[in-house]
Amino acid sequence: MKIQENIPLAPCTTFKVGGPARYFADAFSEQDIQNALEFSTSRKLALFVLGGGSNLVVSDEGWPGLVVKVSIPGIQTGTANGKMLFHVGAGEDWDGFVAKAVAADCAGIECLSGIPGTVGGTPVQNVGAYGQEVAETITRVRALEVATGKISEISNAECGFSYRTSIFNSTERGRYIVLATTFALTSGGKPRIEYADLKKYFANASTPPSLRETRNAVRTIRHGKAMLITPDDEDCRSAGSFFKNPILTTDQYDALNKVVRVMNKQIPTYPAGEGKVKIAAAWLVENAGFHKGYSLGPVGISRKHSLAIVNRGGAKVTDIVALKNQVQQRVRQVFGVELHPEPVFVGF
Ligand code: EPU
Repeated sequence: MKIQENIPLAPCTTFKVGGPARYFADAFSEQDIQNALEFSTSRKLALFVLGGGSNLVVSDEGWPGLVVKVSIPGIQTGTANGKMLFHVGAGEDWDGFVAKAVAADCAGIECLSGIPGTVGGTPVQNVGAYGQEVAETITRVRALEVATGKISEISNAECGFSYRTSIFNSTERGRYIVLATTFALTSGGKPRIEYADLKKYFANASTPPSLRETRNAVRTIRHGKAMLITPDDEDCRSAGSFFKNPILTTDQYDALNKVVRVMNKQIPTYPAGEGKVKIAAAWLVENAGFHKGYSLGPVGISRKHSLAIVNRGGAKVTDIVALKNQVQQRVRQVFGVELHPEPVFVGF
């Protein structure tokens, strides 16, 4: 495995911003990862693990240590307890894997079609969309412990999944490198048509939609929101949703509703468990005054979805941070709600 020097990170991300990695290693096997770790440990370099780069904001200074890009390939199948098992290398393209699963008539991840990035990133932030999240189908995660080099199989329960969260990005952040993930899918299963956008899409369908039709529908809906990477569409130069949908206690939600009612509006909500309400961050951003297509220098709000901050070309990370701060501040002022960024910030 080659260790390269001063490699620009901007092209490795969907946002296309950020400075260089001092050292950069592309790892195609578990052995490559072990070798990269030895390199960073022996030189006392800070380590950053890169997947598909679809959820990253890299600082203009870049990363002073070693960036390891996890490119481990491979999809192996098997069966257990009546399910189809897919054991997938962390470097596999996520949407390519979804396409394979759907082509094999396996249900469980069809609503997660069109999401950019690699398989290894999906357990980290418990990727979810259109009524599904990977927590429902992941059975175990094969991971390497950075401090000891030990490889272990982490069960679904041990992953501690919740909304956009796992142990990998919270309590055990930085402890592991994901090498592979195993998914248990339902052979011949029906697609999940529960999310409002999908129900609307199929409202006039004469027959129940197939997995393939559901995959196509999700990709079409995502395309309409510029959440499907499309070359030459500058609204795709983003990290997807820039903020998480806030989860409020019912008291906080009641307080927010007083403000919303005065505006003679209604805020979209999703169930979030006992005593909690998840609210649409996109709605807060838009109703705090940031219309789709809003610009602040070389960055702005996507013309197709108010939750995405986009790089309109030549943006610095400081421009992104300026807009992030402006949005957070205005949403706080107008609605009294704190928005938390969803992407990972690197090198700050
Ligand atoms: N809305 C607006 N303006 C917009 C877009 C949406 O006001 O420009 C309001 C609408 O009322 C809409 C509501 O916000 O009903 C929700 O919008 P949408 O269905 O597009 O979903 P979202 O909550 O903004 C979440 C995920 C997405 C995921 C979609 C679909 C988060 C932070 N985002 O977005 O995930 O694809 O649901 O399931 O949870 C990502 O994480 O990067 C991501 C794209």
